[in-house]
Amino acid sequence: MKLCVALDLPTASENLKLVHEIKDYDVWLKVGLRAFIRDGKEFLKELKKINPNFKIFLDLKLHDIPNTMADAAEEVAQFGVDMFNVHASAGKIAMQTVMKRLEKFENPPLVLAVTALTSFDEENFQAVYNQDIASKATQFAKDTYESGINGVVCSVFESMDIKDNTSKEFITLTPGIRPFGENAGDQKRVADINMAKNELSDFIVVGRPIYQAEDPSSVVKRILEKL
Ligand code: C5P
Repeated sequence: MKLCVALDLPTASENLKLVHEIKDYDVWLKVGLRAFIRDGKEFLKELKKINPNFKIFLDLKLHDIPNTMADAAEEVAQFGVDMFNVHASAGKIAMQTVMKRLEKFENPPLVLAVTALTSFDEENFQAVYNQDIASKATQFAKDTYESGINGVVCSVFESMDIKDNTSKEFITLTPGIRPFGENAGDQKRVADINMAKNELSDFIVVGRPIYQAEDPSSVVKRILEKL
């Protein structure tokens, strides 16, 4: 299991300060909408300058018509990031079109698809999808797997079921992690490290419990010791 640190701080300099503090650890860095919209591809280069071994997950959750998603995926692949994601609800044709477009790259990034956002509770999820989270997430995961995508973003609670319905090698990346039972914030379906391990999560994403800590590097160290 790998740790992915979410760089969700309000400014580039705060994110870079955090990355400097954790530069000696074997972690992935998650660059999300906030940082990317503000700081763009130059920011990705800054991260690699701090430690070229950092792996970068560009969490833009692409969702559009198939051709537009494939165009965006091609641009993302040219940044040299290691992983990015799309929304499974964009549909199988969109996901297949994205994967087809990436065939021209020698080392394409891994592509994940978001199933159910971890901020959803059952009631609000039902209102949008008219189905319960577990069965819809599994259905999204099957569509994703059949489309040639490498894995999914899901909550810890769906990880095992998704692997059972696809393949053990199918990647699950799970946000909503509160490593040592910290405050959940807006996340509704949170889990700790032991749960993530038991449910065979391949990547855990941790944001606020690290960047809001007084000493982020000691939290990263403690998490890595537990993995
Ligand atoms: O601060 P926290 O640990 O809750 O951060 C979780 C990170 O994972 C955020 O960057 C959020 O956008 C992202 N994420 C999520 N749920 C998903 C997909 C991504 O929380 N389903």
